[in-house]
Parts: sequence; structure tokens; C-alpha cells
Amino acid sequence: MKKDEYIGILTSGGDASGMNAAIRAVTRTAIFNGFKVKGIYRGYEGLIAGESRELTTEDVSSIIQRGGTILQTARSEAFTTPEGRREAYDTMRKEKIGALVVIGGDGSLTGARIFAEEYPVTCIGLPGTIDNDLYGTDFTIGYDTALNTIVECVDKIRDTATSHDRIFFVEVMGRDAGFLAQNSAIASGAEAAIIPEDRTDADQLETFIGRGFRKTKNSSIVIVTESPGNKNGGAMHYADRVKREYPGYDVRVSILGHLQRGGAPSANDRILASRLGEAAIQALMEDQHNIMVGIHNNEIVYVPFDQAIKNDKPIDKNLIRVLNELSI
Ligand code: F6P
Repeated sequence: MKKDEYIGILTSGGDASGMNAAIRAVTRTAIFNGFKVKGIYRGYEGLIAGESRELTTEDVSSIIQRGGTILQTARSEAFTTPEGRREAYDTMRKEKIGALVVIGGDGSLTGARIFAEEYPVTCIGLPGTIDNDLYGTDFTIGYDTALNTIVECVDKIRDTATSHDRIFFVEVMGRDAGFLAQNSAIASGAEAAIIPEDRTDADQLETFIGRGFRKTKNSSIVIVTESPGNKNGGAMHYADRVKREYPGYDVRVSILGHLQRGGAPSANDRILASRLGEAAIQALMEDQHNIMVGIHNNEIVYVPFDQAIKNDKPIDKNLIRVLNELSI
């Protein structure tokens, strides 16, 4: 990486708490090591349009504690086309951006992988998504904060569920992945989680009802991953089924929605983002190309884009057993 060129940094896809901490870490580590940094606005959209400006250490002051992303983000249609990527490459050359640090999820890192295959650009990815669904890293930036937010919400829902003797179906995000649902269910003491990865033949709802949850408890909380991750539908679908098939139960639905994405990042997300951001610049200095920087067993790891994107990250099946056993 030449020092007369800029390192470009952008956030892409859904925002996640801790992205700002990562922007700060990348910027400061780069400057500490004698590089110049440009912040690119609105993800790949801004890369194509040339919306960027140099970042100083002061520009990233007092952002470690803020949710969202100061660089803003977008899901860019244009960047999925060869014409869009050609424009992005032209802009990078014009703006003297020699390498790109992309903070985002699956779609964003897929974009970076294709871009780096087509053009002589160095891309380093940082896993930034509340879904925690990137293979090769134990955690993604934003996951821990979202998980804590969900648990806080479910604790509140529990109060009203208990008071009214009701079943609540609480829908959480995660797209195709059940990490948020499964772990928030364990952490909030929920009675069950319905997740996309549990593809046994058993109907997850019937298993839950069949266990006779109501015999010993006066209320129940079931956490459901949103649809289309759950192919049959989200919380509404399961609530409708219970109303139809078990009319004796008093059922309510709570869809947590985008509040799961906002808020101040947890300490864990700040630390993770700081470590990964610092490691992204170390990777560039080691001449690494087209990798995602992740964390595994508390060690920094470099994961080739291909692996991070093409492999499905498995959910630990022990977590399913833990929830089942603890929710009797
Ligand atoms: O990937 C992050 C995520 O929050 C998913 O959990 C969710 O399915 C999706 O983004 C929602 O996207 P949008 O904010 O574009 O509606």
C-alpha cells in the first residue's frame, strides 16, 4: 500500500452499532502508521458518485459511543452492475484511493469480492451486521448490542405477559440466521425459539405446544426469526396458527423491528470494532488482499472473501438443547 494514496473506508448495507467505533479505529490506526484516509459516504453509492472527504483524527473524535454510522450507508443497486463497478473504479483512481476498507454484511462483502476480482483493487472487509451470519468470525460488529436490546425488550414484554397470562410471539431480525433469536431466547428465559436453522422434520410450534408449556407456567414467550428467514412466516404466522389451532390461548405478537439496529454500542461491540479496525490496517501493511478480518477464539483471523461469503455459518446445536432443557 503506497503512502501517497488514500485508504478509503465505507459502511454498506444495514447499519450496525459499533460501525462508528470501527471507522474511528481504521482512521486512527492508518494515520498512526503514516497513511491518509478518505471517508466515503453512503456506501458503494458514494464510491460511484465520488462522495468522499479526507478524515482526520479529530473527525472521528467522540463517535465511539454513537450508534448508526457517521458515513451513512446504503444498499446499492448500481454496484451490483458491471457499469456501476466500472464507475466506482474510475472514481477510486481519480480520488487516489488505493485500497478500500468495507464495513458491512454478506451483500456488502460479496460486492467487495466481485469488485476485487474485476479490478486491481485491494479490499479488506470488516464484518458489520447485527445478524452475526458471516462465516469465519465468531462475532460481527453490532450483534452484541442488538442482542442486548432484544433481551431488554423481552424482559419488559415478560412483565405484561405474566400479568395477563398470555403467549407472546416476539419477532426479531436476523434475515436467514437464528443467532439473535436463539441467544436472546436463552438470555431472556424464553420458552422457545423458532429459527431457520432448526430444519428438523418436527413442526417447531407443535413441539413447543406438545411439551405442555402451559401446565406449569402462566405465560410464555416464543422468539421467532423474521420471515423470509423462517420460510413459513414470522411471528404473525405462528400467532395466527395458535389462535386457529388452540383457541383457548390468549396470544399476542410483538415485532421489534428496527429498534434492534440502533442505540449506543455495547462495550463488547466497541472493543470488537476497535480490534477489527486496527487489524484491517495491519492486514493492509502485511499486503493482505481481499480478506475479511474476523475474530475466532478471541484471536484476529483473516478469512478469504470466498469462505466468508459462500459458507453458511452454522448455529451451535448445543444452544438448541440448552434452551429446550432450561425452558421446562
Ligand atoms: O442485515 C441486517 C438487517 O437488519 C436484517 O436483520 C434485516 O432482515 C434487514 O437488515 C432489514 O433491512 P432494511 O433495514 O433494509 O429493512
